[in-house]
Amino acid sequence: MSLSPETIKQHRRERLQERLGRYRQRLDRHESQPLVEGVLRRVVGLTIEAVGCRAPVGSHCRVETADGGFIDAEVVGFSGDSIYLMPTGELAGLVPNARVIPTGKTSRVPVGDGLLGRVLDGTGRPLDGAGPLQTGEEVSMTGRLINPLARQPIDEPLDVGIRTINSLLTVGRGQRMGLFAGSGVGKSVLLGMMTRFTEADVIVVGLIGERGREVNEFVQETLGAEGMRRAVVVATPADNPPLMRLQGAWLSTRIAEHFRDQGRKVLLLMDSLTRFAQAQREVALSIGEPPATKGYPPSVFAKLPQLVERAGNGDQGQGSITAFYTVLVEGDDQNDPVADSARAILDGHVVLSRQIAESGLFPAIDVEASVSRAMTGITDEEQQDLVKRFRQLYSLYRQNQDLISVGAYRRGSDPRLDEAVAYWPRIQQFLRQGMNERVSFEGSLSELQGLLRQPAEGATRQSGIRRDAEPAPAASGQQAKRAYTGAGGQ
Ligand SMILES: Nc1ncnc2c1ncn2[C@@H]1O[C@H](COP(=O)(O)OP(=O)(O)OP(=O)(O)O)[C@@H](O)[C@H]1O
Ligand SMILES: [Mg+2]
Repeated sequence: MSLSPETIKQHRRERLQERLGRYRQRLDRHESQPLVEGVLRRVVGLTIEAVGCRAPVGSHCRVETADGGFIDAEVVGFSGDSIYLMPTGELAGLVPNARVIPTGKTSRVPVGDGLLGRVLDGTGRPLDGAGPLQTGEEVSMTGRLINPLARQPIDEPLDVGIRTINSLLTVGRGQRMGLFAGSGVGKSVLLGMMTRFTEADVIVVGLIGERGREVNEFVQETLGAEGMRRAVVVATPADNPPLMRLQGAWLSTRIAEHFRDQGRKVLLLMDSLTRFAQAQREVALSIGEPPATKGYPPSVFAKLPQLVERAGNGDQGQGSITAFYTVLVEGDDQNDPVADSARAILDGHVVLSRQIAESGLFPAIDVEASVSRAMTGITDEEQQDLVKRFRQLYSLYRQNQDLISVGAYRRGSDPRLDEAVAYWPRIQQFLRQGMNERVSFEGSLSELQGLLRQPAEGATRQSGIRRDAEPAPAASGQQAKRAYTGAGGQ
């Protein structure tokens, strides 16, 4: 039986449609936009300009060098037919019209318990010479956004091992704090102390844009073999290109997120947030973004909250990321735009003062200028009363310090100030803490209680500042669970 020409045509059409469908599927599986190789046109500073190249922003390219090798670069912007790239490594050996080959890949992050004990660079490659990473899993650099309504609240205090912070500036699990100070006032040392003393399942440390020497110091001395067992260090020191420094900050945050998503309690420490902002400024300015606030382009102030918001508590069933970011306050100017922006987006700040450090008191925490915004929700009224009283005495003395030190203040003229003066040596003693001394949360509170419950010698009677904090009214829920004994009072 012969088929009619119509039926044959129909069969052909069906076969053709079937083949076309298969081709479409294959096309869909690959990049919808084919990647096209381009050539190098211009290199100014650290910015590489290529033409004829088709690669999306955030993807990676390889640029051929004069000796036939390649350098890795990431697409950071474009204008007309040109794309702008920035190197993630050393920028040397480039020649005009060199090949620029898109790899089609974006940054991936190796994650897993195999990271514990390791030191990585900003791209996630090991720096410690301890062989390849045994992680197995890779995730994208851009984490999952948490619905703000689903985030667990900060409702549990965290013992950070520092007397002043535990008692006067209590930090909650999942809180994001800033450590603000000028250079050389003790940010890194305090961060190191908290690294060793804080209770956490995993510690992720991002050393961003600081001295290369400090990386080894941090790994060997601050963390040591014991601390490294539960830590991951991401190091992108000052000599790394700006893109690498930025990646270091994102990478450490992404690793912390991974452990949090597994339900662990993570401590994320970043030294420093200012260097992250400066790296973003370098990248943004070099691709033509105009400077806005004191030389910083607007994207810096958009990236800071993006980075910081990724820390904090997870949603139900997840763990937490408690984060500490150091912020360099240049020229001790607390109104520096980066410091200002960081102060606004973080959940509290510990300010270190040069004047206090110069007097030899470490950690040089300026209690007056520091605040923990989650404190009222995680402490009971008894502690809040003690803190209020401590702050009153502290401020009163500090406001009159100049008068007192030149001998212009005479005892008896203000009973409240007399009391502050009498308490001052013990206040200083309370604030002082050696680098290797750990003070537990309960210990910190009972020392604070002991300090304020004991009358200071030399105080006149009618001082007006209550000596004994009122007995704690019945605290509710969470807060009532924590009881502590005072050296002097109960
Ligand atoms: N708790 C402490 N006890 C004794 N000395 C301290 C303490 N904290 C800091 N110091 C002293 O202060 C110096 C500077 O501290 P650190 O390196 O932490 O400052 P920094 O603020 O990180 O400086 P930079 O901004 O330059 O990185 C230390 O070398 C040390 O001598
Ligand atoms: Mg430092």
